[in-house]
Amino acid sequence: MAAKAAPPRPVHPDIERILLEEPQLQARIKEMGRQISRDYAGRKLTLIGILRGGVVFLGDLMRAITLDCSVDFMCLSSYSGKGSTGAVRVLLDLRDSAEGRDLLVVEDIVDTGLTLHYLLDNLRTRGPRSVEVCALLDKAECRKIEVSAKYVGFKIPNEFVVGFGLDYNEKYRNLPYVGVLRSGGK
Ligand code: IMP
Repeated sequence: MAAKAAPPRPVHPDIERILLEEPQLQARIKEMGRQISRDYAGRKLTLIGILRGGVVFLGDLMRAITLDCSVDFMCLSSYSGKGSTGAVRVLLDLRDSAEGRDLLVVEDIVDTGLTLHYLLDNLRTRGPRSVEVCALLDKAECRKIEVSAKYVGFKIPNEFVVGFGLDYNEKYRNLPYVGVLRSGGK
């Protein structure tokens, strides 16, 4: 049976405007996957998905990577509502050893940089061959501490965004686009 085209999905009423549409996200993620595949050829790549915001990005990115690689997860907490608390906690740690591996941290967004700064320091103590960051979004003007991501999907302005894995109080992660939340949130 021939598949029927799905009707267009309405924009969520809590979204003020869409910043990045799904096709734009997918095209950029494919490009990032190609670049990572070139850069890590012949190496022992482990993608470290950061729960929960990074999972949607990770799912698409790993399918765009054409190398053998492994996947592991960490869950960190630093946000409450729309603000970073600054205090980072490890809620779930890696299952496998990082020793001798080329680690690529896959994050949804770099904002103040506090979470990543903590995480990179933590991972470097575990004897990896290398540690780099791949972030879908970068709010560079919000940085409170110097951290740089080797791979960045999109630089975005200082606005609170949701969708494509990003949440506000655990809501909106399943939106297929990245959008700016109406002020006040829901
Ligand atoms: P940072 O420590 O301030 O760089 O924040 C990192 C984490 O905060 C990200 O991994 C997100 O989970 C969350 N975060 C930062 N900005 C936003 C946003 O605009 N929307 C949703 N979550 C955000």
